[in-house]
Amino acid sequence: MKKIVPRLQESGPIFCVETAAGPSSVVVFGASGDLAHRKLYPSLYALFSSGLLSQSFYLLGCGRTPMTDESFRAEIEKNLPSETAGKVSSKAAFLERCFYAAGDYQSKDLYETLQQRMTDLDGRYNIEGVRLFYLAVPPTVVKPIVERLAESKLACPASTGRFQQVRLVLEKPFGTDSASAAELERVLHRCFHESQIYRLDHYLGKDTVQNILVFRFANSLFEPIWNRNYIDHVQITIAESIGVEHRGGYYDQTGALRDMFQNHMLQILSLVAMEPPSSLSAEAVRDEKAKVLRSIAPLSADPLNPSVVRAQYGPGEVDGKAVCGYRQEKGIRPDSITETFAAARILIENWRWNGVPFYLRTGKRLPRKLTEVVVCFKSVPHTLFPQFQREILPANSLRFQIQPEEGIFLQLQAKRPGAKLSLATLEMAVDYRQIFGFRMPEAYQQLLLDCLVGDQTLFTRHDSILLAWKLLEPVLDRWNNSKGDNIFIYPSGTSSILPADELIQKTGHFWNPL
Ligand code: BG6
Repeated sequence: MKKIVPRLQESGPIFCVETAAGPSSVVVFGASGDLAHRKLYPSLYALFSSGLLSQSFYLLGCGRTPMTDESFRAEIEKNLPSETAGKVSSKAAFLERCFYAAGDYQSKDLYETLQQRMTDLDGRYNIEGVRLFYLAVPPTVVKPIVERLAESKLACPASTGRFQQVRLVLEKPFGTDSASAAELERVLHRCFHESQIYRLDHYLGKDTVQNILVFRFANSLFEPIWNRNYIDHVQITIAESIGVEHRGGYYDQTGALRDMFQNHMLQILSLVAMEPPSSLSAEAVRDEKAKVLRSIAPLSADPLNPSVVRAQYGPGEVDGKAVCGYRQEKGIRPDSITETFAAARILIENWRWNGVPFYLRTGKRLPRKLTEVVVCFKSVPHTLFPQFQREILPANSLRFQIQPEEGIFLQLQAKRPGAKLSLATLEMAVDYRQIFGFRMPEAYQQLLLDCLVGDQTLFTRHDSILLAWKLLEPVLDRWNNSKGDNIFIYPSGTSSILPADELIQKTGHFWNPL
């Protein structure tokens, strides 16, 4: 297929609304962990160095590993990029605002230590603004931390009288089913108001995911055809070439449905399928997303007529290297039937989408990393070219490539120069990096800034969490009760997974190639 790369450049007025954070402190629980070092500190540094954080800012890390402020700073520095010109604040200025407190999350002593250090640091940096508690910790310690925070008055604005904006950030898993998610919500709501709770899904921080909303609602071209009259089906793929890496223990209890579907996949689906919100306010956007989840028809894992299928990677080859199977990975039970791949056919029962299947798939050890949404339009209703049957004329499709090469691609039929009747499929490509010329910002950067400025639009509300669990629970239960069943094993590196191929081919469709 030929590619047309339009000479697109930014032209006309640019609307850019970026609010900088006011005076604020960030307390990270799980401060010596991988997530904090790889994502949180580099993102906070990027915000600080570009002037989006106030000079009245400090970071207080909190973890079980004993460390001094100096050794904490040295660890943070290892993951910071080298200093570049044109930055508002230097690396040294950021690092000197980083502090550390060690302790046991369950013990009241830790919270007393935190209280003392924060009183001192709030005075030193003149902070009477936002206080953000970021829980980068395993799920088992979330409850005790939240309860201690509330008891210790660190998170209780009324009793301190100073902090009007205390916020709590936490990441998935939000429970493992609807009962445990509801229990977590009870704990959170005993201590915090919903407006203080930021449930982070890092996919929503990706620029290209946010672009789905902008693309749909800032252009008049596509919204009129964004419905069952013109769209044949939609495919959403999150493929990874990596295996479970060092997370075997967690993953074997989790599987692809809990790890990726319950959150990232359903969030992307909601953005593609939602109705236009009445405004871009957090509540308006989240209301519309929740409505999509409420409209999804029940899913079935019945082997005779499934709408969700699973598979697990076996040994194979990825990127030219031989790799082991899932059951041979560290921390995985040798007879595990945990799914590393899942695919679903989802029907949204409302006026806009009635009869339009949404095919979702995600898996590890697939041939390459690729996240995309493909909107496949219906074929032409009638062909003027008798030589080409209607069915073989490829239909138009619009592809949002979310990662790794971010872009939007529209496939069209056009005349090929030369012979009178010669058609070719062309692709109009909008390549983000080519046009905007810089690397996509890290998703956490946007999300952390949003927490600090108090914008919950990109964070998941409690009702969506429960709706997603309710939807997936029958499938999880069925899989759980079929212990001993065989699971389909695919060779690592393959792009064709039989149960998923059968699922989509049943309605005469094919997966977009990986
Ligand atoms: C996480 C999952 O939420 O997302 C991981 O727990 C997965 O299993 C990761 O690898 C993928 O994120 P990204 O941003 O690399 O696509």
